[in-house]
Amino acid sequence: MHQSVLVTGASSGIGEATAVHLAHKGFRVFAAARRIEKLNELSALGGGRITPVPMDVTDETSIADALKRIADNGATLYGLVNNAGGSVMGPIEKIPLDEWRKQYETNVFGLVAVTQAVLPQMREAGRGRIINIGSITGRIAMPFHGAYASSKHAVEGISDSLRRELVPYGIKVSLVRPGAINTPFGRHELELLGHYEDDAPYGDQVRRFKSWFARQHPTAPSPAVVADAVHAALTAERPHARYTAPEGLVLTLMLRSVLPTALVDRILERVNGLDKFRRKGAR
Ligand SMILES: NC(=O)c1ccc[n+]([C@@H]2O[C@H](COP(=O)([O-])OP(=O)(O)OC[C@H]3O[C@@H](n4cnc5c(N)ncnc54)[C@H](OP(=O)(O)O)[C@@H]3O)[C@@H](O)[C@H]2O)c1
Repeated sequence: MHQSVLVTGASSGIGEATAVHLAHKGFRVFAAARRIEKLNELSALGGGRITPVPMDVTDETSIADALKRIADNGATLYGLVNNAGGSVMGPIEKIPLDEWRKQYETNVFGLVAVTQAVLPQMREAGRGRIINIGSITGRIAMPFHGAYASSKHAVEGISDSLRRELVPYGIKVSLVRPGAINTPFGRHELELLGHYEDDAPYGDQVRRFKSWFARQHPTAPSPAVVADAVHAALTAERPHARYTAPEGLVLTLMLRSVLPTALVDRILERVNGLDKFRRKGAR
């Protein structure tokens, strides 16, 4: 019997790569997203082990329908990969509150809603794995990433509480934290930043930041590094609480933890070019 896994946000990028990787490793994969036509293309790559499932993680009825479809296929979920996500970018002062709410609806409440819907069958089975896709941005919040970074900080906290709550039920929870990964995500973030580049008073800063940011995603690792980490979290006898993809970023996270925050601020400014906006004499 192949173990069954639900991957949300499987119509693109990390979710797509993860769905195909897990299918090749022998899992039965239920690939969920809103764009069903993209999922249908994906199922051809899975050696018959990928089943497309329409799902909008912000819509509880859609989640319930998707889980019914999975049950009708005779599957009990062993794994859930909470990957569906989006980004809202811009200066915190300027991002409309509706955009903030949309950010949280997908990245935070969507993740919680799918988890709540899947947990009863895992508890009943007395086993299961939940893998949440966070971000390095859930530990290091760059400027103009406030909405996105805070949603991924929330995913860190949810993952820690959930892992501790589910110990008695044999369900293991891991957080996978990708750094910049070469998917359509980065292009979308650049477009969003573009909305603020002519906007006073942040326009000059946004333009400067954007020119640095534009260089990050095209040269970033492929989503395969994240798919590998998800596979490890699903199959290790004792999965880690956290995986970082690529692994080399662990060092960056360690430095962020041990260095004084003021020094981290200065290093980040140097890296992204915003140091030129620091007021003379400002500490
Ligand atoms: N790429 C990176 O550099 C990076 C870095 C760190 C973390 N991450 C995280 O990795 C995850 C995947 O990102 P990616 O780079 O693969 O982005 P992507 O290529 O833009 O894919 C995002 C996926 O999320 C799905 N999605 C968005 N809203 C949804 C909703 N309401 N319901 C269901 N599915 C929804 C999209 O599918 P539909 O539009 O078809 O619904 C799509 O399949 C996200 O959680 C992101 O925050 C990415």
